[in-house]
Amino acid sequence: MKGRRLAIVGATGMVGQEFIKILEQRNFPLESIQLLASDRSAGKKLYFNHQEIEVKETVPESFKEVDIALFSAGAETSRHFSPIAAKSGAIVIDNSSAFRMVSSVPLVIPEVNPEDIKLNKGIIANPNCSTIQMVVALYPLHKVNPITRIIVDTYQAVSGTGSAAVDELTTQTRQVLDGQNTIPHVYPHQIAFNILPEIDVFLDNAYTKEEWKMVEETRKIMHADNIAISATCVRVPVFNSHSEAVNVEFSRAMSPDDARRILAQAPGVKVLDDPTVSLYPHAWSAAGTDEVFVGRIRQDASHPNGLAMWIVADNLRKGAALNAIQIAEEMIKE
Ligand code: A2P
Repeated sequence: MKGRRLAIVGATGMVGQEFIKILEQRNFPLESIQLLASDRSAGKKLYFNHQEIEVKETVPESFKEVDIALFSAGAETSRHFSPIAAKSGAIVIDNSSAFRMVSSVPLVIPEVNPEDIKLNKGIIANPNCSTIQMVVALYPLHKVNPITRIIVDTYQAVSGTGSAAVDELTTQTRQVLDGQNTIPHVYPHQIAFNILPEIDVFLDNAYTKEEWKMVEETRKIMHADNIAISATCVRVPVFNSHSEAVNVEFSRAMSPDDARRILAQAPGVKVLDDPTVSLYPHAWSAAGTDEVFVGRIRQDASHPNGLAMWIVADNLRKGAALNAIQIAEEMIKE
């Protein structure tokens, strides 16, 4: 297979580092790779396949010899550089929220809507981490028995906010254990030994933007505008992996056994569900893996057509870098 000329924008960040690891692990066909970040990181050395590569500042000229540009450097950087990269002939796969709800930009989970990739006009958006893991698990069920309503509560790791948040949780944890005061910088309140029901900004409808992303992105990816969705997104003092408690209402009743059977065969999903031996997904064991794990599947006692379940995935891998690289792999297949 012919190698592609690839650029990573945000190569020094949490997701950027994961891009590098996953490209190595999956033996992605490369002709060349450029590692880009802000001017703060220019000259820094990173390794790709044991080869030292110098990080360069992202400038408009960076994309002249690039086939695929993976972006994870925040929405502002994406808004500025993605159109420039696309105009230079690269296909951008953007992990930020900048273009997700733009109607001409496909929003893709390869296990769900790979056919949307070919509608791109130079930019493909990678969905929000919480949305990806929920939709990977729910779409196979939806195909068999259309979903009418979803209620989801998330328990999201700090790595989703970036490296500054990981440092903040580490520092604050030490400070609390040492009996010192903490001063929040990244989050509005202390995150160590705490739980914050605020991810991204509050909107006029009293939901947060993260919660509304789950509503809008889920409908766009599944091509299902009529699904009723309500989300509560919560930051927890966990370094990696997002967990979600999800209640789903179907058009008709679905038994937990049927759901387990369907999910056992679904791409990218692994069922871990045996309460007798405390087998269920959890954040610690999901970290560093590629699957979306589903467990605690049970009848929703409050509704005849309802199921409740617990969904966990590594937010930096399937929730971000892996999904973007799978999109690139699908493109190459085409
Ligand atoms: P840098 O390390 O030079 O600041 P994280 O979300 O883990 O904090 O990572 C954010 C990533 O986005 C980093 O690689 C960061 O680079 C990069 N980044 C931030 N601002 C810009 C920018 N204006 N241009 C290019 N990359 C940027």
